[in-house]
Amino acid sequence: MFIDSKKLIIKAIEARKFSYAPYSGFCVGAALLTKTGEIFTGCNVESASYSPTNCAERTAVFKAVSEGKLDFAAIAIIGGKGHEGKTENYTAPCGVCRQVLAEFNDGSMKVILAKDENDFKEYSLSELLPLSFTPKSLV
Ligand code: THU
Repeated sequence: MFIDSKKLIIKAIEARKFSYAPYSGFCVGAALLTKTGEIFTGCNVESASYSPTNCAERTAVFKAVSEGKLDFAAIAIIGGKGHEGKTENYTAPCGVCRQVLAEFNDGSMKVILAKDENDFKEYSLSELLPLSFTPKSLV
């Protein structure tokens, strides 16, 4: 399917505005595209006791799965200090988020890392999580 990376990044940029990150100040937005063309956004949500913090990517995945959407085509991610503006770096998903994505995907989905809508890199999930342990491993 055609994936409009720029459109997905713009959704991630919008989601980053809602980031709740009073402890790290590192604000992340994600936009997850389903194979049926829907977009679920997410931001990171931190906690005063730190460990309950949820990453932007998992927020988006859990929103989608909780609405019965389990097939993903792509995710765009943008993260940096503050709620808006071009970021210093490309924010790659943490190991936990890669594992959560791999629960629902064979590794072919696109992972788009953006500094803004005009500056981004694209990977497949399997490039970011090779030799993954997935539901198929449980035989
Ligand atoms: N974070 C994400 O939301 N996604 C990532 O891919 C990396 C890290 C969040 C978690 C925490 O709220 C803040 O960024 C700093 O680690």
